[in-house]
Amino acid sequence: TERTLVLVKPDGVRRGLVGEVLSRLERRGFTLAALELRQLDRATLERHYEEHRGKPFFEPLVEFMLSGPVVAMVVEGQRVIETFRAMAGATDPVAAAPGTLRGDLGRDWGLKVQQNLVHGSDSPESAQREIGIFFPAL
Ligand code: GTP
Ligand code: MG
Repeated sequence: TERTLVLVKPDGVRRGLVGEVLSRLERRGFTLAALELRQLDRATLERHYEEHRGKPFFEPLVEFMLSGPVVAMVVEGQRVIETFRAMAGATDPVAAAPGTLRGDLGRDWGLKVQQNLVHGSDSPESAQREIGIFFPAL
């Protein structure tokens, strides 16, 4: 069994979509190993998004992620990393398929790609690194 870090980003929390994200994960058979509402700080976000440092969207992304609390969770289950990525849909909500979180719910964002509701780790290595940042005790 596998673990991934999922974030409901500030747009998802503001729009009251935490329950929807949790509900889809639970109905899919995944379980929670940790869950917390948390206002992030810049240092945490710079670690979390380290691979994107220097890219043109880095600063707007960090600013957006600082704009309100996120719900951070560690989700557990068989092949949860790739399954949650599939459930989230394409990074750009405009391109995300219907049936995905971003494809069904990512409509309030204008054209801001960073406001795409959720984050999910993209590999076992990323999951381990990101869980270490958000839930070091796990
Ligand atoms: P995450 O699950 O959030 O990591 O999404 P992802 O893996 O689909 O995307 P990626 O890791 O490449 O980028 C991280 C986040 O940066 C995305 O979720 C977006 O919020 C933001 N982002 C990525 N690419 C762009 C871009 O071209 N423009 C803008 N404005 N934001 C971007
Ligand atoms: Mg990513």
